[in-house]
Amino acid sequence: MPLLDLQGPVVNRAPIAHVPAPAGSSAAARKFGVKPMPELVWNEDVARETAHLYERIKTVVPAVEWPVFAPYVKAINELKRERNAVILAHNYQTPEIYNCVADFVGDSLQLAREATKVKSEIIVQCGVHFMAETSKILNPEKTVLIPDSRAGCSLAASITGEDVRLLRDRFPGVPIVAYVNTSADVKAEVDICCTSSNALEVVESLGSDTVIFLPDQYLAKYVASLTKVKIIAWKGACEVHERFTGDELRLYRESDPSIQIIAHPECPPDVLAEADYTGSTAGMIDWVRKKRPKRLVMVTECSMADNVQAELPDVEFVRPCNLCPHMKRITLPKILDSLVYMKEEVVIDAMIADKARRSVERMVNLKN
Ligand code: 13P
Ligand code: SF4
Repeated sequence: MPLLDLQGPVVNRAPIAHVPAPAGSSAAARKFGVKPMPELVWNEDVARETAHLYERIKTVVPAVEWPVFAPYVKAINELKRERNAVILAHNYQTPEIYNCVADFVGDSLQLAREATKVKSEIIVQCGVHFMAETSKILNPEKTVLIPDSRAGCSLAASITGEDVRLLRDRFPGVPIVAYVNTSADVKAEVDICCTSSNALEVVESLGSDTVIFLPDQYLAKYVASLTKVKIIAWKGACEVHERFTGDELRLYRESDPSIQIIAHPECPPDVLAEADYTGSTAGMIDWVRKKRPKRLVMVTECSMADNVQAELPDVEFVRPCNLCPHMKRITLPKILDSLVYMKEEVVIDAMIADKARRSVERMVNLKN
């Protein structure tokens, strides 16, 4: 197929086939109504109106793909305005979502903080389910939508509220910290939440010589390596980050001793031992912005390297990256369905949400 030159002539095409999901009958659909599905066409007007957005991602999205994305991007941005909705997107979202339709992007802590400030009545969370739940916990009066509620997380799936109650019985009086990558049910049972960017600070804020940390065993080990507090860890793991190995990173270093390696703390210890920097997704992005390395291995989910590459084309990314299958469930067609049909609405039992809010707010309110 020939590459499409966006500056060149644009051929009017038939609407792009979009199979709409059946209109939901959620409370949100009844409250805000369902909109007609916009016509999804690629033509000269769409090309012109979206050209500034394609500029942002042209180094990572081939021009031939833009005629497929652009009609969705245009329709989503228009509907977002019509509905007065805001899109919060995690750093692992694909470049066309992260750069072209999101109103706010960030790591889990930044998204949680942003969720406390949102003025719009409708939040569309482009990330995984626990992130949408966190937004709902912090905004019980607002409508929170997730484009695909099957977007889970292996960490969140590794533990239940009942498991936490059993831990309390087994370790009476020991405070419990939950990584935000947990369900509302788990958040409701713990003392405080944390994210990868504030885990050490949260653990040390409790003033206890022992802390239970769940569910990520590797983040727990990383925190334990930085503090005198004794950590009792749950044995969950991120299915994306646990696949990296120290051996593969050593091979990159051997082939280029000047290469820089940065890693997310969900990685196993032998991976972190090879890293020049360890931090949350936002921490890693800031590190690259400041250091501007020539060649970089970013040990995390693949789309984040694309997003940073789009912003900093002079950095060469060497990519032993792994895709998060859950994050990748969120796509432009599903975001459009969310805004048209007001689906899928995040609903949390009010009692659980009230209890969970205490542990999330305790984290959000910690002074930096
Ligand atoms: P961050 O809070 O660092 O963005 O991490 C969230 C996550 O799920 C990483 O896998
Ligand atoms: Fe969960 Fe890992 Fe995906 Fe992050 S990358 S959402 S921790 S499965």
